[in-house]
Amino acid sequence: MKTALFYGTTTGNTGDIADKVKAEWDISDIDLFDVADTTLDSASHYDLLIFAIPTWDYGEVQEDWLDVWEEVDQLNFEGKQAAFIGLGDQYGYPEWFVDAMGMLHDKIVNRGLKS
Ligand SMILES: Cc1cc2nc3c(=O)[nH]c(=O)nc-3n(C[C@H](O)[C@H](O)[C@H](O)COP(=O)(O)O)c2cc1C
Repeated sequence: MKTALFYGTTTGNTGDIADKVKAEWDISDIDLFDVADTTLDSASHYDLLIFAIPTWDYGEVQEDWLDVWEEVDQLNFEGKQAAFIGLGDQYGYPEWFVDAMGMLHDKIVNRGLKS
């Protein structure tokens, strides 16, 4: 299964998690994409898409994800599988904990994904 992990990171934590997932993943190789450096076009080449997104600033989408937010609407998810990784701080921001992951999930969940 061809797998890609797209992540955005402001202070490096989600980038660290992406590296760890790649190191531990034993189903197949994972290609990592920092959304600050890439468009999402390459997503079409993969069967499994993993999206890793932290929440910032009281329930907001991380800044690099914001830059590609409209691109997500153009992707064709038909027949693909998706997984989500959300980073947040449940003590500092309990009312907005990992909101951005939910927002990304809700954006694509009804767009043809395979369960
Ligand atoms: C100013 C600031 C605002 C934050 N806002 C939220 C938030 O609204 N919800 C949440 O769950 N986490 C929030 N966090 C926690 C971050 O999501 C967490 O530190 C995360 O690990 C950052 O990931 P990154 O290093 O990949 O950018 C916030 C952190 C900071 C410093």
